[in-house]
Amino acid sequence: LSDGPLKGKRILVTSGPTHEPIDPVRYIANRSSGAQGTAIAKALVALGADVVFVTGPADVPPPSGVAVIAVQTAQQMLDAVQNTLPVDVAVFAAAVADWRVASSSASKIKKQNGQLPVLEFAENPDILATVSQMKSGRPGLVVGFAAETDDVIAHAQAKRARKQCDWIVANDVSPETGIMGGSENAVILIRDDAVEQWPRLSKDETARRLAVRIVEELERA
Ligand code: C5P
Repeated sequence: LSDGPLKGKRILVTSGPTHEPIDPVRYIANRSSGAQGTAIAKALVALGADVVFVTGPADVPPPSGVAVIAVQTAQQMLDAVQNTLPVDVAVFAAAVADWRVASSSASKIKKQNGQLPVLEFAENPDILATVSQMKSGRPGLVVGFAAETDDVIAHAQAKRARKQCDWIVANDVSPETGIMGGSENAVILIRDDAVEQWPRLSKDETARRLAVRIVEELERA
């Protein structure tokens, strides 16, 4: 473990997509690569934090120097997060599936001469909101993400209020930005008292700046 301003701080980072099974061989997922969450974990480790990295099936490998908990589903991610608490800081960068298949099949669903399967959905737990609203044992700083395609600041501020996290890292993921799946990001950091627009930066540099903001916040507290 490296020395640094986050030495002795225990930080949870969620990252990647979740996979929600339809049957043993099929699942529903999303296009999250896990790149931004991985970069954040790496930046926090570089400043000396003890990072627990709860990750869905991502495209990029987890950074070295973290404790990895690999999960598939949103429910497993919530369980892993709850087993990881208490922490000083929690950063929720995962793209958690909003829905799971209500009763996934224990055996592979077969083609049945022209009869189509019907999938029924159930809502997944909101991990960020659950942790943000904990009455005891809540992390001192809870950071969520908001991927928006329009009215980014207004939607992200509403999300912050609704979920009751401390900060929201908002970004515009309209297709023309190339951010989703790309190596750069342009984010707006939303706190209760400030809105900071950051320039377009690599996801690594975005992560480093966020880690610096976290250091400053912990020094203030
Ligand atoms: O509501 P929305 O999915 O846009 O919120 C995004 C933020 O909430 C991200 O920080 C994401 O990690 C978190 N989230 C979560 N659990 C969910 C859905 C989103 O932790 N089920």
